[in-house]
Amino acid sequence: MISERDLILILDFGSQYTQLIARRIREQGIYSLVKSYDTDISEIKNLNPRGIILSGGPNSVNFKKTLKPNKEIFSLEIPILGICYGMQLLSKEFGGKVIKSSKKEFGDSKLIIRKKSKLFKDIKINVEHKVWMSHSDKVINAPLNFTKIGESTNSKIAAFENTTTDIFGIQFHPEVTHTSIGKKILKNFILICKCKKSWTASKISKEMIHKIKSDIGDDKVILALSGGVDSSVVAAILSKAIGKHLSCIFIDTGLLRKNEIIEVKNITSSLKINLTTVDASRKFLLALRGVKDPEKKRKIIGKCFIDVFNAEAKKIKNVKYLGQGTIYPDVIESSSKNSESDVIKSHHNVGGLPKKMKLKLVEPIRDLFKDEVRRVGLELGLPKALINRHPFPGPGLAVRILGEINHEKIKILQEVDYIFIDELRNQNLYNKIDQALAVLIPSKSVGVMGDKRQYGYVIALRAVNTTDFMTATACHISHQTLNNISTRIVNEVNGVARVVYDITSKPPGTIEWE
Ligand code: XMP
Repeated sequence: MISERDLILILDFGSQYTQLIARRIREQGIYSLVKSYDTDISEIKNLNPRGIILSGGPNSVNFKKTLKPNKEIFSLEIPILGICYGMQLLSKEFGGKVIKSSKKEFGDSKLIIRKKSKLFKDIKINVEHKVWMSHSDKVINAPLNFTKIGESTNSKIAAFENTTTDIFGIQFHPEVTHTSIGKKILKNFILICKCKKSWTASKISKEMIHKIKSDIGDDKVILALSGGVDSSVVAAILSKAIGKHLSCIFIDTGLLRKNEIIEVKNITSSLKINLTTVDASRKFLLALRGVKDPEKKRKIIGKCFIDVFNAEAKKIKNVKYLGQGTIYPDVIESSSKNSESDVIKSHHNVGGLPKKMKLKLVEPIRDLFKDEVRRVGLELGLPKALINRHPFPGPGLAVRILGEINHEKIKILQEVDYIFIDELRNQNLYNKIDQALAVLIPSKSVGVMGDKRQYGYVIALRAVNTTDFMTATACHISHQTLNNISTRIVNEVNGVARVVYDITSKPPGTIEWE
């Protein structure tokens, strides 16, 4: 959804923080997009950005085959900010010198601003500021017409500027919260680019609804509703745009949380959406019978889901579009030329559907980060409790019951999960945790209850904090709270004899256990 609004374009050279730069710019109400470092100049001109940021990256500008943007970006006469590798690129491009540093700088460092600059407006000079660094090369000679404006612990030239062309370079990462002055620096760059604020939840929602109305007209759309934030927000947008021409399908895989169907019905009835619920739990359980391997389980569930959805969708006549909850990080990741990551888990989604069903895709939130999806959801009147819900994986409880699945284990885990989440809410912890879950370990353990011998399953509880779900740390929940939760679970759920708490970070552990 490219619009008329002022844009800051980020060219991605592979830094793990690139997405964060875009989020920080958008947090200030300015539209920002991430594109690959070698994006065609005609595309860049079409986007008509007010400014460009060159991201950091793992390469060296001194490599023979170094990553470079199209040179023409320097003739667009718009402000440019190079961050880390981006600064080194600027240095090389304009005749400065970059060498391998004898001392690498990773993590916290100190920046001293040595000269007043538009980029450092309202930031004190000649005092130390905490900044986050991650580099092994450094600039030792600023290019001609560039002035050094700051130095750090290990780099004499940690920031430079050319005030005639408004090109700036900084060796540290302003997008990372550890850089105390980072937000101010990005705000100053936005000012230098003369961007007008236009990126607010209310404007975004209105534009989306307007665009869908004009793109889709009177055609029909189907959408697989999962009860999660993304598909619910997509449903809300589509329903506001096309009303009765939206049909939602909710598939009960039998692997859902307790009361999930009731919650989904509440959402759709408040939005007056056509909803078909399909109880396909027998089909899923049958297909999963005897299967222990996590990847096999995921594949079976994905296939069953597509089959059931396909069969239901066929019953709705003259459908042209399939709604999908793709969000911006998925778009960036799948278009990034630098990502050659291993498939750790094959995520279940409805990706195979459009081809099979010959439907066009409508992806209203594909330009939004998760926090923006939430804000749009609230703007459209979705309940706060739904918007702040922790993620729940497509394969559901199947990847939280280790090994083979059966009805009894599902029932136990549904009850356990319900109690765990209920207690976290009671203790005001739910919204401080990014994801909490319970896992059923299919080994039995001995216990004693009321003088009677118990022999039941082991439950592992997991609660993590994370910003992007790529890395995560286990939450510190007090022993007292864990103790209360454990007591409730063992007392209230038949078949559980023991509760443990998972303290593994990601990496090396993943968030789900399978
Ligand atoms: P992992 O276990 O890979 O999970 O650390 C990261 C995040 O992704 C969720 N997850 C999934 N979501 N389909 C989904 O829709 C899946 O197959 C799937 N597997 C994991 C997980 O809950 C966590 O939020």
